[in-house]
Amino acid sequence: MRVERLGEHHEVGGFSCGVKVLDDWLRTHALDNQRRNLSRTFVLLDDANRVVGYYALTMGGVREEALPIHYGRGLPGYDIGMVLLARFAIADGHQRQGLGRDLLIEAIERAADAGTQVAARFIAVDSIDENARSFYAKFAFTQVEGDAGDRMYIRIDDALAALGGMT
Ligand SMILES: CC(C)(COP(=O)(O)OP(=O)(O)OC[C@H]1O[C@@H](n2cnc3c(N)ncnc32)[C@H](O)[C@@H]1OP(=O)(O)O)[C@@H](O)C(=O)NCCC(=O)NCCS
Repeated sequence: MRVERLGEHHEVGGFSCGVKVLDDWLRTHALDNQRRNLSRTFVLLDDANRVVGYYALTMGGVREEALPIHYGRGLPGYDIGMVLLARFAIADGHQRQGLGRDLLIEAIERAADAGTQVAARFIAVDSIDENARSFYAKFAFTQVEGDAGDRMYIRIDDALAALGGMT
């Protein structure tokens, strides 16, 4: 298995993860968004070059008041840099084999790397449903208490510190 930045040569037409909106986005929007500098997509390839997973990253900002309370204290009153893990999926037939964990670690490391060039304190994820929420919660992403929204956060340095425990 290896991870590559999405290119025209990657065959994404048959990708299916069980969540249509994530399949459709990879098939129809990922490359175009990349061309327009709206997001960067990375694909997980098996030994036969089949796309068995992907994620997409973009940069963002978050105000103290939008963060889980334990992350928000003492921050300046302007947008704090974050990397948004905007899409994340493993293909049907490859789920529950540890690939999601491996790919999430890869995404966190890439986000941390981006943060060395353009300061980012957090990684945020938009969880698409309850399943996704419990997956991210397993890796210590947290939601604002009482928030009905889908966004969850982890501090990049906490995530990096925990990586040893994740691997
Ligand atoms: C959610 C998803 C990414 C998980 O990927 P995966 O390859 O199946 O996950 P892994 O096999 O690497 O599992 C890693 C750990 O998470 C746990 N896990 C996997 N899916 C889970 C879920 N839905 N809820 C809670 N825990 C979950 C596993 O049990 C494992 O924990 P363990 O090592 O303690 O046993 C995958 O099921 C998927 O792509 N689903 C459809 C799209 C989706 O929901 N994307 C999420 C972002 S919107």
